[in-house]
Amino acid sequence: MKARIVLLPGDGIGPEVTHAARDVLLAVGERFAHRFDLEEWDVGGVGCEGDGDRRPPDTVEACQGADAVFLGAVGGPKWEDPRLKRRPEQGLLNLRAGLKVYANLRPVKVFPCLAELSPLKAERVAGVDMLVVRELTGGIYFGAPKFRESLPGGGERAVDTLEYTDGEIRRVAKMAFELARGRRHKVTSVDKANVLESSRLWRKVVDEVARDYQGIVLEHRLVDSAAMRLVMQADSFDVIVTENMFGDILTDEAAVLAGSLGVLPSASLGAAGPGLYEPIHGSAPDIAGQGIANPIGAILSVAMLLRHSLKLEEEARLIEDAVDKALTAGARTADLGGKASTREMTQAVIAALS
Ligand code: NAD
Ligand code: IPM
Ligand code: MN
Repeated sequence: MKARIVLLPGDGIGPEVTHAARDVLLAVGERFAHRFDLEEWDVGGVGCEGDGDRRPPDTVEACQGADAVFLGAVGGPKWEDPRLKRRPEQGLLNLRAGLKVYANLRPVKVFPCLAELSPLKAERVAGVDMLVVRELTGGIYFGAPKFRESLPGGGERAVDTLEYTDGEIRRVAKMAFELARGRRHKVTSVDKANVLESSRLWRKVVDEVARDYQGIVLEHRLVDSAAMRLVMQADSFDVIVTENMFGDILTDEAAVLAGSLGVLPSASLGAAGPGLYEPIHGSAPDIAGQGIANPIGAILSVAMLLRHSLKLEEEARLIEDAVDKALTAGARTADLGGKASTREMTQAVIAALS
């Protein structure tokens, strides 16, 4: 098959992990005689200040014509000045909104050979296999009004708005129930319905959607107790569906189960158009440029790209199995307590592609 894939390496360790993921993608392409045409553009901090060489006039529009988009990470201390007009993170949010990828799938699976790396007791993390479906283009990230102002008597005020329509909730809830059908038939909807009006609407709509999925068990949990349960009884979760910011926070927490933030992938999907694939970690300024970043989250995001956007299930599984084999054989980057460089870890995965 032939596919056009846009790579957006971004900032910090973004380019390091993106190039690792690209190498795995090309190795799989070669093995199966697929032709992947790759284009690389600037995004994030690099994109904000870039000389324009690798920046198409409209990144979102250009991505829309691709079969899939892969993003490394954006942001870093260089662009943290609050007076900056353009923030790298805003570029990423614009891309997600522009591509209308409203559902962010973040699988959290514990590789058995990494179970002892978690600060939690191995028996608490063994067998964990959940899928967090994070709403991605609504909620407090996008609600209006959103502003900051000086107060007449001195001081300042800042406002963010947590807003959802029933339609936004329904489509992501449906996605979660559909995905639960192919898994263990359980959906946990996480909200803060004891306080937030938007969560009360969330709960009502999720209940309505559940009526069309009789074989699926639905439970509602409040986000604070869900956060605790995530470390106490993570194996009780199958599919979790939740608001944008709750999902952001809970998945970094869930990374503790997997042994490192560096191993978790994600896929962002909409009703039509290309999917957006990114590891869940950020640009990791503390280790950027050293060639030691863990590429597994990025590599597993490529597996999700092959599965969801290109419908290449066999190729996706091959990558997931290769990651498992490489880790089981002892390949480990520093975050997993090893000495392998990004390049060595990537080579170990490519060597295990058989
Ligand atoms: P981070 O995810 O970049 O890093 C948190 C910690 O995890 C750091 O100690 C880092 O070294 C480690 N880590 C992350 N990924 C790793 C990997 N692949 N291998 C080994 N270790 C890894 O979070 P942060 O430091 O809070 O944020 C840094 C910047 O990244 C901020 O500007 C933030 O906005 C941005 N960010 C971007 C994305 C994204 O592009 N999707 C996601 C999260 C944060
Ligand atoms: C993520 C990141 C982003 C988010 C930031 C960089 C906008 O934390 O992808 O998890 O909050 O969605
Ligand atoms: Mn995050």
